[in-house]
Amino acid sequence: MQPVGQFVPLLLLCLLAVALPGADGASGRFWHLTDLHWDPGYEAAAAAGRPCPSGGERTGPAGPWGSYLCDSPWSLLRSAARAMRDRLATPDFVLWTGDDTPHVPNEQLGEEKVLHIIANLTSLIKETFPGTKVYAAMGNHDFHPKNQFPGKEHRIYNQTAELWRPWLSDASLPLFRAGAFYSEKLPGPGSRGRMVVLNTNLYYDQNDETAGEEDPGGQFQWLEETLTKASRADEMVYIVGHVPPGFFEKKRGKPWFRRGFNERYLAIVQRHHRVIAAQFFGHHHTDSFRMFYSDTGAPINVMFLAPGVTPWKTTLPGVSNGANNPAIRVIDYDQDTLQVLDVVTYYLNLTRANMMSSLPVWEEEYRLTEAFQVPDGSASSMQTVLERIWRDPHYLQLYYEFNSARYDLELCKQECRVDHLCAIREVDFIKIAQSSVSAVMAKSKRKGGGHEIALQCM
Ligand SMILES: *[C@@H]1O[C@H](CO)[C@@H](O)[C@H](O)[C@H]1NC(C)=O
Ligand SMILES: *[C@@H]1O[C@H](CO)[C@@H](O)[C@H](O)[C@H]1NC(C)=O
Ligand SMILES: *[C@@H]1O[C@H](CO)[C@@H](O)[C@H](O)[C@H]1NC(C)=O
Ligand SMILES: [Zn+2]
Ligand SMILES: [Zn+2]
Repeated sequence: MQPVGQFVPLLLLCLLAVALPGADGASGRFWHLTDLHWDPGYEAAAAAGRPCPSGGERTGPAGPWGSYLCDSPWSLLRSAARAMRDRLATPDFVLWTGDDTPHVPNEQLGEEKVLHIIANLTSLIKETFPGTKVYAAMGNHDFHPKNQFPGKEHRIYNQTAELWRPWLSDASLPLFRAGAFYSEKLPGPGSRGRMVVLNTNLYYDQNDETAGEEDPGGQFQWLEETLTKASRADEMVYIVGHVPPGFFEKKRGKPWFRRGFNERYLAIVQRHHRVIAAQFFGHHHTDSFRMFYSDTGAPINVMFLAPGVTPWKTTLPGVSNGANNPAIRVIDYDQDTLQVLDVVTYYLNLTRANMMSSLPVWEEEYRLTEAFQVPDGSASSMQTVLERIWRDPHYLQLYYEFNSARYDLELCKQECRVDHLCAIREVDFIKIAQSSVSAVMAKSKRKGGGHEIALQCM
């Protein structure tokens, strides 16, 4: 037995050496939270036996921690904050990608109320992570009237900049006032990381302020310049925003950006992909990702779409049962290259939480590398994840249950499969219209994948 006893530590050491990412780059962690959508009227409505304001006409049981028909009660947000502090109190930084207000008509909000809600959630995050750098992006609900973001200075930008001043550098402040986007070097001595926070609400097709403009706020030109400079300075960049390009995976052919803006965004990612380590967006409330390809079909970049904290069931026509469990996530990354090493998602089973008399438990839902058997969260690994979902019904179902943070556990059948695969694969409006998911098809056939049913994306 003795030789084995000596051998085991050595073997362990070898395994550890393999498991530890890049010997040179230290690994760090950060939180990504999004779509908190606080409904300040939840408790009063529940106490009076009325539906929550964000539920509209829909009625259902209003539990102490929330309801799938409603936006977040304060208790749910406090619980999420507590869970984050318990799991990882001192992340390198926090990404907060917006949508703070409830899904109610503009008439029930107003500029002052919207700003009050942003102020309150800003305090919650400040108190949860005192002294931590937070990169905050505005969501389409963080404006009055909602979605109507101008590509020029506005008092709501000014007020939000004041609220976020402790997180913004001196150089970011005037940029934020002029269009709510900015870019900063990541904290840490000698870091070659850079964060680019965009206001993609300017590209949203519900935004009448910027319709017909070519480059609202000059943000595209600024982004190109910022990425060019980053490349010259040998930096690596994360791009962060709220409304993502591409399509909603729960509704076939449903885009968010106006067509021209989507094409321009894609062209920029294609041109500058070498400096973009990854992209992080919200708005969907669901957990998914988007692949970006070169003209020759090589995977060149990935966008991670984080699930929301609000469980609110979408009212978007054509989406059935579109609620989710509240979720939050940690990204493990290489502090030098910004390579995504892992994505760990935590969720609250809201049904169970409402049945218990004790404090709710946010469980680890999954770890990207374990669940999908990939080494990291790079574009090529995420292409492998896509191919696994494509070819193997087991992985498709796994992905599908994560998509709603395990709210919807139905079987993802053919239509569902196509919706998701097309959205992940085609961020491009033109390509999706040609339903050209053929590149992946050809590849999986070559490897003997044998899935020869063509995907009709439109
Ligand atoms: C935010 O709102 C909650 C719930 O009404 C309240 O308890 C909390 O004190 C508020 N925070 C701030 C900073 O206003
Ligand atoms: C925003 O703030 C700047 C700097 O304080 C000021 O010059 C500008 O007039 C403000 N703009 C609006 C629209 O309030
Ligand atoms: C959530 O909790 C409910 C009630 O306990 C249970 O029926 C359901 O299976 C749970 N969901 C998951 C994904 O564990
Ligand atoms: Zn939202
Ligand atoms: Zn949104």
